[in-house]
Amino acid sequence: MLSRRHVLQGLAATTALGALPRAARAAFPLLDMGPSAAQIAPGDMAATDLWTFNGTLPGTEIRHAQGERFQWRVTNNLPDPTAVHWHGIRIENAMDGVPGLTQEPIPPGGSFDYDFALPDAGTHWYHSHAQSVEQVERGLYGALIVEEPEAPDVDADLTLVIDDIRLGRDAQITADFDNLHDRAHAGRIGNVVLTNGAPEARFEVARNARLRLRIINAANARIFTLGLMGLDGWVMALDGMPLAEPRKVVDPLTLAPAQRVDLFVDVTSDEAEAFLLHFDRTGGYAQASFTVTPGGNARRDAPKPLPPNPEFPIDLANAVPQRVLLEGGAMRGLAEARLDGEMLSGRELAQRGMVWAINAQAGRDATPLLEVALGQSVRLGMANDSAFPHAMHLHGMHFAEVLPDGGLGPLRDTILLGPDETKEVAFAAHNPGDWLFHCHMLGHHAGGMGSFIRVTA
Ligand code: C2O
Ligand code: CU
Repeated sequence: MLSRRHVLQGLAATTALGALPRAARAAFPLLDMGPSAAQIAPGDMAATDLWTFNGTLPGTEIRHAQGERFQWRVTNNLPDPTAVHWHGIRIENAMDGVPGLTQEPIPPGGSFDYDFALPDAGTHWYHSHAQSVEQVERGLYGALIVEEPEAPDVDADLTLVIDDIRLGRDAQITADFDNLHDRAHAGRIGNVVLTNGAPEARFEVARNARLRLRIINAANARIFTLGLMGLDGWVMALDGMPLAEPRKVVDPLTLAPAQRVDLFVDVTSDEAEAFLLHFDRTGGYAQASFTVTPGGNARRDAPKPLPPNPEFPIDLANAVPQRVLLEGGAMRGLAEARLDGEMLSGRELAQRGMVWAINAQAGRDATPLLEVALGQSVRLGMANDSAFPHAMHLHGMHFAEVLPDGGLGPLRDTILLGPDETKEVAFAAHNPGDWLFHCHMLGHHAGGMGSFIRVTA
């Protein structure tokens, strides 16, 4: 819930802005949220109506240098209120874009100036965080790239925003966003897979070239399983954060909703083509195709790691433990859970569209899941007591998985738990504020799987 402090800050911001001369206000570039359309189905079918940022799917690719300030004005030309979340940025809380928690929603016709520091280089993204099961599905997402101070040694830097949408026979996005069946199962899975807004993405590359592929899963609920063909690759970063050592790609890569992977790939194909593949139950498909032209450099040595981002060391020995029980969904259901301060039965909850709970709480309540002091380290022991996977995302801070040997995995902002899986993550609560913690299967979030963690300064 919006605190008095937030409201006061909001008022102060409005007043200060009002006092600025016109020229200063015009300096923020615009990110306009509004209706548009794109030809996604074959050419003899209708164009698909979308909601996008600046008229394109994905929205404008935003690029800044590490350490620069992000200063963009979001204008809302949608029929509904909205707000924008800058996913993966260790951001100041008031700019985090969660309506009702960190800001008032931006009404139709309104605007909001997002203005924050960019501490971490990496592949991040932005998306609507209001009625996101609908607004993200309609196309309100884009890449937010923060560049390393020194450009790494690659021949091309390609962003691949992958998604799936559910189209009807009329080539329009089906409007069944609140469908309880999707919600209680794996979420809204689409029937058309997209890369950068198109069912077929193709790039021209030279043999032996080294490419940086920044892959962002913007899908509502689809978990992508990706592989390489004619390409030799290394994982360089996960969820924007560089790995200490690049990891050779041998097995297929799993990318849950909201997760990102930065790959360096060398074009090794002897054929005229190479592929980024995605696999599903029926086989492997081209997620992106590469036309290979002759020539190019000699092959390079294995890549060096990307430069590290600022560190906030996790003090595992003194970390506060917190259990996180994820339950609900089809097959298991919820016996009971609290909703808006009331204990309700599973049936009563389902009548209100609530089918998931975290620690027997359906949906975000006024009380945080956990309150910790700034600087404290935290361990979240997560247990998925359900028949479906969940992609749990924490705003504002990255966490690391606590591995079975007691060590820490790479920093991430979203972690996938399979059915009945348990995983523990740890993080340093280095960023003050109220930080949303939720499943990034957007229907699951809408169906109750969301809470928040308060870090008090
Ligand atoms: Cu991608 Cu709550 O965020
Ligand atoms: Cu989920």
